[in-house]
Amino acid sequence: MAAEVSAGKLDEFADGGLTPVEVNGEFGRKKVLVARTGESVCAVVNRCPHLGFSLTKGPGGLTFDDGVVQCAWHNSRFDVCSGENRDWVGGFAGRSIPKWSRGMLALGRKPRGLDTIPATVRDGEVLLQID
Ligand code: FES
Repeated sequence: MAAEVSAGKLDEFADGGLTPVEVNGEFGRKKVLVARTGESVCAVVNRCPHLGFSLTKGPGGLTFDDGVVQCAWHNSRFDVCSGENRDWVGGFAGRSIPKWSRGMLALGRKPRGLDTIPATVRDGEVLLQID
């Protein structure tokens, strides 16, 4: 059953930015990405569905633009509010690769979205529903 946990004060999250945080869940610490737009927030699990790596710690670093995070490893891109996959395994460390070679890098894995986490702001606090 999901529990409501605080990810911190809204002021601690850059407006228009994406912030990695760790919160306590029922099954231990959980790595989460929180995107803030004004007074609203979205959250996803910080784990790429391609190979399970961190979306933000890797050779490409944290790349976030217009609500879309790009995986720090093989450039898959995801909407952080819907979790929707926008592009699948487009390269390595921020550099593009030709379309014909993407299938090899995908290692047989089909495009998938991110696991979203219900998130709200209440009394200036960012609250997440964590399993
Ligand atoms: S681990 Fe994210 S695209 Fe490969």
